Amino acid sequence: MPGVFRLVYLLYLRTMKRIAIFASGKGSNVENLIRYFKNHPLIGIALVVSNNAQAGAVQIATKNHVDVLLLAPHQVNDGVFISQSLKAKKINYVVLAGYLKMIPADLIKAFPDKIINIHPALLPKFGGKGMYGSNIHKAVIQSGETESGITVHFVNEEYDQGRIIAQKAVKLDAADSFTEVENKVRLLEMEWFPTIVEQVISATETE
Ligand code: GRF
Repeated sequence: MPGVFRLVYLLYLRTMKRIAIFASGKGSNVENLIRYFKNHPLIGIALVVSNNAQAGAVQIATKNHVDVLLLAPHQVNDGVFISQSLKAKKINYVVLAGYLKMIPADLIKAFPDKIINIHPALLPKFGGKGMYGSNIHKAVIQSGETESGITVHFVNEEYDQGRIIAQKAVKLDAADSFTEVENKVRLLEMEWFPTIVEQVISATETE
């Protein structure tokens, strides 16, 4: 790359805050985040990391020309390898959007208070072991909750126990089916997750 372009590119990389999204599933949040941060002056989606080559999230990233890092089974728990790969891509923040593998301790250490997760329920209820995917909404319905929602939180070594950044709630009706609960929560994710991520990064960077 000629010198002047390289300089501009390096300056751009230094100013832009680059997000890697980790996702294992359908990818509706990946799509929404990519859409929201497209042309954003300070924040960009630079990478999608997945353990599942078949994930909709991977297809969405490829379609949108976002780089993909596919983790082989032996790499999923290798926090040193993953953090080195992220640092090589100049990643500043990690956003988890339906990533179904445990985040290795070395990765958490390498990105302190820089890993943000979305959980489709109101933590601390309906969190922890076994509370992922459809199990969450099923448990919410079974216990007759009158509301559910989303929790956006930092990730630490304890599953679903990192510091809560924001929660948004929605009323449930006793007659709501699984799909209705899922849709209500999904609407909250689409409406709030990108702006919450944006606020966290803006606040951290201006501290
Ligand atoms: C979302 O409900 C998110 O809250 C949870 O996993 C789901 C991922 O869905 N952590 P998608 O792959 O973004 O469609």
